[in-house]
Amino acid sequence: MRLSQDEKDLLSGKGGAGAAKAMEILCALGRIHGARDMVEVRSVQVSGISFKNIGEHGLAFLEDWASRGSKARVPAFMNPGGADRRLWKELGFPAAFVKKQERVISALEKLGVRPTLTCAPYEADTSVEFGDHLAWAESSAVAYANSVLGARTNREGGPSAIAAALTGRTPRHTLHTDDGRKPTRVVRVACKAESTAEAGALGFLIGKLISGDSKGGIPYITGVAPPEGPRRRTWLKALGAAMAASGSTGLYHIEGVTPEAEAPTGDVGETVINSLSEGLEALNKHPGPVDVIAFGCPHASLDDLEYISGRLRGRKVRTPVWISTSSSIRSLAEEKGPAAELRRCGVTILADTCIVVAPLQELGIRSVATDSGKSACYLPSHQGVRLRFGTTDELIEAAVEGAFALPRNTSKGQIRGK
Ligand code: F3S
Repeated sequence: MRLSQDEKDLLSGKGGAGAAKAMEILCALGRIHGARDMVEVRSVQVSGISFKNIGEHGLAFLEDWASRGSKARVPAFMNPGGADRRLWKELGFPAAFVKKQERVISALEKLGVRPTLTCAPYEADTSVEFGDHLAWAESSAVAYANSVLGARTNREGGPSAIAAALTGRTPRHTLHTDDGRKPTRVVRVACKAESTAEAGALGFLIGKLISGDSKGGIPYITGVAPPEGPRRRTWLKALGAAMAASGSTGLYHIEGVTPEAEAPTGDVGETVINSLSEGLEALNKHPGPVDVIAFGCPHASLDDLEYISGRLRGRKVRTPVWISTSSSIRSLAEEKGPAAELRRCGVTILADTCIVVAPLQELGIRSVATDSGKSACYLPSHQGVRLRFGTTDELIEAAVEGAFALPRNTSKGQIRGK
């Protein structure tokens, strides 16, 4: 790989032992992917934050790297961890787990990574412009940044994202190149997909369809568009998150919608999706009572919180409802938004974590209903919970009616709300 003088200096240890290790990792990855050089990145998002996922080995790895004394050279921020840093006690998160989680966060802070703890960094406090090169790790954020914002990022792993933070670089390959962003298959949608849950089911189907595509798996989607207004962004987030979950798709184009959508030329196949029912049925795995109804995957925006509050119209929920978001969006909702009203309705706004990476077993949660295709994809396998899938509106009504409520005497857990 061609390295600039600055990159050679980092590799030789002039930026500290941590940055030298980072440059070694990036060079090795660059060689594997056939990159000719590095590209400077504007920001980095680091995943692998939840202690539930990385465990003792991951924590030791991070603390060792943090002890080597290098700091992030570009803005870098964290994906959700495993606990709500403010409400963990009230929600019943185990203290021992929270202590380990705080050690993960503090190791990353030593490396200069900010504890934003959100998978939707574009919602609150980072600016991304069309054409920016990034090194983001969270798959749903990667899909959103590439597809909707027109930025350029591969899906980084936890260590490669930290390496990018410490050097401000990533190897230039795949989604950082013009050729790597071209669509490889046309997907014609011949059915309606209006709600965000339907967007999730559609994303799930498209992800599965292109997951084995040897040309790179980038769909050019026609026949469908997000709703106008505040639900537009939520719909696009839901589509990309589910596609990334079922098919590792980091970029999608939608005709007339996304900024780089250009009809493919040459020999690309076309697939028609006539119905979402296969996706809806696959995600709605275990109809039955649930412990918690979960919204906010990817993390909810202020608009999402307002939408749910508006649909509740002051009614109390009878089944616990959790909405995951970032602490900055929760603060905004507390200052001038719907947080107080949601609390009055009995809804918990969960920050810094989410239903997929929190320690659900320890919290006594055995069954979840969600409107998120990504959560529905991951929850049964990652958390071993029973899963019910529905639209946001359906789930809000079910929460108010207590229609999915698990009789308390059969629940092993103590689900608390705030
Ligand atoms: Fe975000 Fe957790 Fe979903 S990290 S995308 S809310 S699985």
